[in-house]
Amino acid sequence: MPGELVLVTGASSSVGGAILRAILEAGYRVRGTGRRIDQLEELRSVPSLQMHEQNLELVQVPDMAAPDAFKDLLQGVTYVVHTASPMPTTGVPSNGETYDSLYVQPAVKGALSLLETARRYPSVKRIIITSSMSIYLSEGGENDAEKEKMLRDDDIQPVSTSPINDPLWAYRASKLAAYHAAVDFVKSEKPQYEIVHIIPSFVVGRNEKVHVSSASSSAASDVMSGSNGIILCPLFGIKSPQGVHGATVHVDDVAKAHTEALTKADAGGQNYILNSPDWNAGATYDDALDIVKRRFPDEVASGVIPMGGTLPTIPVKIDSSKAERAFGKFKGFEEQVVDAVGQYVEMRKAGK
Ligand SMILES: NC(=O)c1ccc[n+]([C@@H]2O[C@H](COP(=O)([O-])OP(=O)(O)OC[C@H]3O[C@@H](n4cnc5c(N)ncnc54)[C@H](OP(=O)(O)O)[C@@H]3O)[C@@H](O)[C@H]2O)c1
Repeated sequence: MPGELVLVTGASSSVGGAILRAILEAGYRVRGTGRRIDQLEELRSVPSLQMHEQNLELVQVPDMAAPDAFKDLLQGVTYVVHTASPMPTTGVPSNGETYDSLYVQPAVKGALSLLETARRYPSVKRIIITSSMSIYLSEGGENDAEKEKMLRDDDIQPVSTSPINDPLWAYRASKLAAYHAAVDFVKSEKPQYEIVHIIPSFVVGRNEKVHVSSASSSAASDVMSGSNGIILCPLFGIKSPQGVHGATVHVDDVAKAHTEALTKADAGGQNYILNSPDWNAGATYDDALDIVKRRFPDEVASGVIPMGGTLPTIPVKIDSSKAERAFGKFKGFEEQVVDAVGQYVEMRKAGK
């Protein structure tokens, strides 16, 4: 209900920024957390968040895996959105670290620390956890059976026990372990709140934190960081030898699903996989080249969008009809590309 307080972890992440805006626009008050105070402070200059300043509190949580990391932060909170989690950009282990200590442990301990603390606050009714499509992918990789199988919301893989050798698989292992840890916690501890897993495919669209008046001189490249950068690499001359599963969703749809899942009557305990239906209809990543030729002809002609790259699409079939019934029709790949590239062009025009 508008006016109620929502705790959002990972507030300064790309996806977290969009969720923050959507929740504030829906009339809630937000307490956002992040590891770095400077990154949280930058959010205060984002125009779409600035207009809700009176409803936005930002708090530093340096180590979410610490047992009492969220103590006092859940006072007065009705809903929690947990997006903070190590991303593949965390990199490779060094100095005695392992993929487990760098990815899996922080993801699991962070989620459990939040779930355990929330038990002590009866006001908490529901916790939305941002998961990832990687939890559906089998360890055998992109074998033929996987290409043909229609993945549905509850087809989650078991916890990974294989050795981890790269950041992408460490990320997958961390999301899987955190998913199962949360489900097991609820089963065994029977807390007063419900959990909902929102499970997006690759997220593409505008980056909420990037704006023309930002102090950053690299705003244009900030738009093309993270998942935007991976998916839209063909536009920037990158010829990726490695394929990526063909599955993306617009960042606005991700933000809307998180917001509506706070109160949707029958969402408690559910998994919702979010993916644009375009991918089951044969979209490919290199379609982005045709899209920008049609939608940004001047920028293509002038070389602002250099083109010339390629990204192989690994086929995967995802049934996101349950999430579309719950949260409305998802935007297509063209709208995702146009919104991300449009923001990139806007920043380039502003000399950023
Ligand atoms: N982008 C996608 O395509 C995609 C797809 C599916 C799911 N998701 C999920 O969406 C969420 C946000 O991702 P994003 O794409 O917005 O990535 P991002 O911008 O890199 O944000 C990652 C967030 O997680 C936090 N984080 C990372 N490692 C952490 C650690 N060890 N302890 C505490 N916090 C940590 C970061 O905190 P700081 O800000 O303090 O560094 C940041 O807020 C993640 O849960 C991710 O799995 C993303």
